[in-house]
Amino acid sequence: MKVLVTAGPTQEAIDPVRYITNHSSGKMGYSIAKACMLRGADVTLVTGRTALDAPLFVNTVPVISAKDMYEEVTSRSHDMDIIIKAAAVADYRPCNVADEKIKKKEGDVMSIPLERTDDILKWLGEHKKDSQFLCGFSMETEHMLENSRKKLKKKNLDMIVANNLKEQGAGFETDTNIVTMITQNEVFELELMSKEEVAFHLLDKILELRK
Ligand code: CTP
Repeated sequence: MKVLVTAGPTQEAIDPVRYITNHSSGKMGYSIAKACMLRGADVTLVTGRTALDAPLFVNTVPVISAKDMYEEVTSRSHDMDIIIKAAAVADYRPCNVADEKIKKKEGDVMSIPLERTDDILKWLGEHKKDSQFLCGFSMETEHMLENSRKKLKKKNLDMIVANNLKEQGAGFETDTNIVTMITQNEVFELELMSKEEVAFHLLDKILELRK
């Protein structure tokens, strides 16, 4: 089975020195890629910059920006059986990237105009084949179920894995997570566990739903 996993944060350049990013460590996506590999899948991992070692026996494709990730994912998606989008993709990027380092001025107030990035998951939902299973992630701080259900529908997903950043042991930079797997008809809650264990439960559920 061919599986495409995305992981990590994207970086959106402001100038040659600075960028906008988020707290994603990549651990959830890397755990999923490794779990898929251990079960014998042909795995491609498109990953933003992380401090993690590339998983063994996985085709790892490094990217920096949301635009890079869009290109690497959309050009590979057509023959994938399962796509799991665990990456924390920037929703906005600076409208212009300065060629030279931006110098500060005495007492100025800085503002950077931002524009939207392309929504990769939405594109995948719009171009999904019948046989393909598409799984997104949703990180919320409030109204987790309601907001995640909206994303499931809007992006034409088969499943969305939601976590609440405000729960102890869930979210960014931890080795554990507390996730809820949401499909059109069902909600499955997992208790606090390591991201490796979450990955195995997630794959069990995806294989069960694909039958
Ligand atoms: N995602 C994506 N491309 C983007 C932004 C997000 O593919 N430009 C994907 C993420 O990889 C994740 C899912 O969309 O699987 C949810 O991301 P999130 O940013 O939480 O969802 P949004 O619909 O953008 O909602 P909001 O930011 O308003 O919470």
